[in-house]
Amino acid sequence: MDNSASLRIGDNEIELPLIVGSEDEHAVDTRTLRARSGFVTFDEGYGNTGSCLSKITFVDGEKGILRYCGYPIEQLAEKSNFLEVAFLTIYGELPDQDKADNFREKVLRSTNLHVSMERHFEGFPGNSHPMAVLSAMLNSLGCYYPDMASNNRQQDLEHFDNAAAVLISKVRTIAAMSYRTKMGLPFNYPDNELGYSGNFLHMMFSQPHHPYIASPEVAHALNLFLLLHADHEQNCSTSTVRMVASGGANLFASVASGVCALWGPLHGGANMAVIKMLEEIQKTGDDGSKFLDEVKDGNKKLMGFGHRVYKNFDPRANILAQAAERLFASLGSQDSLLDIARHLADAALHQDYFIERKLYPNVDFYSGIILKAIGIPLDMFTVMFAIGRMPGWIAHWKELAENPKGRIHRPRQIYMGANQRDYLPIEERD
Ligand code: SDX
Repeated sequence: MDNSASLRIGDNEIELPLIVGSEDEHAVDTRTLRARSGFVTFDEGYGNTGSCLSKITFVDGEKGILRYCGYPIEQLAEKSNFLEVAFLTIYGELPDQDKADNFREKVLRSTNLHVSMERHFEGFPGNSHPMAVLSAMLNSLGCYYPDMASNNRQQDLEHFDNAAAVLISKVRTIAAMSYRTKMGLPFNYPDNELGYSGNFLHMMFSQPHHPYIASPEVAHALNLFLLLHADHEQNCSTSTVRMVASGGANLFASVASGVCALWGPLHGGANMAVIKMLEEIQKTGDDGSKFLDEVKDGNKKLMGFGHRVYKNFDPRANILAQAAERLFASLGSQDSLLDIARHLADAALHQDYFIERKLYPNVDFYSGIILKAIGIPLDMFTVMFAIGRMPGWIAHWKELAENPKGRIHRPRQIYMGANQRDYLPIEERD
């Protein structure tokens, strides 16, 4: 293949260079298009537009491939853990023992909040959505760590390692404290003898004189959930983080914007919507068949299914489906929600309507079932997604911040509004 693309517009023909990625993805480099033709591209939803060159995550939607820095998600799910995968996505390599110990120590040292920050929780109304609280509290970390949040890019990079550990560690504490506040319960302070997931569940569910010790199966299921959410290339929230970071904003402000983007029901809010959908079906006594008919009639959306990129299967869903079965077996759970979920997944994999529309279970489908089985409150499901996605947001901020040729993200538009017209005094208007 030539190393350029020819574009003819009227009598003008221009050659645009091609870019070929390390996994043979091809792109037309349109960075000079407007200067040379006066035209811009139009790609609403950016489904055909590459916003950056990245080394963090590779996704092949047709083949159902997902790799973090070259490592297949299936291998990481089987052999690694969330903290190690967080290190991998942020620094690009699996840590050796010293680096792993040092990273774990930084995270352990960063678990507590400043006592005055704990008082912020009292300022939110009791029915505040945990995602609103999370984005506000993450952004306010910049007030407590001004050296890490100077918006002086070089200085913020110098403090990056500590800022990353602060976020990976404190996102759990903030999430748990927002839950305890909402429930009118006293805070549980971190027990650093526990692992990453176990410490979070302790902070969430321990009661005075009754510490919550997660079973190995529950801790593993949560750790796997977090690991599988660590990054996913230029999804809506990660692209938001990069957009905000491109203006020079610090890491805390950038990830706080990612939380806001993730909140949407079409993105991170889908795991909550999955359970609401299954419970709605369960209430009617339907095994899912009637609901599927309503979806086919276009009256309902099948939450947890479909994906902008995965057009055959979401590899994360396959792994989580097995984890859900193991967790339910270990808990001896008889919740018919899993039966309904199995029925919907089976229909999506075998019925033409869903196959034609590539509506396969995505990461959120089994996530919701696992989180419900662990006892995570429904309105915190997307918070759990944010805890898992934190390493990816951090990694993309770093990759953008370290790019010396980086520019502020400023897309163009096609104006479709009124042509020029003159101002009329109100008495002369129609
Ligand atoms: C995540 O980008 C990422 O990587 C995201 C994510 C990550 O890790 O960051 O993977 C996490 O966000 C997963 C997706 C979670 N969202 C949901 O589960 C919500 C339900 N899914 C959809 O809303 C939808 O499938 C999207 C948003 C995921 C993808 O939407 P697209 O690619 O824009 O697809 P589309 O809206 O153009 O739909 C194509 C067709 C349409 O049918 P027709 O109009 O052509 O007849 O498929 C239909 C849609 O109506 N369709 C659905 C459907 N999703 C698409 N029909 C029923 N149920 C659905 N869920």
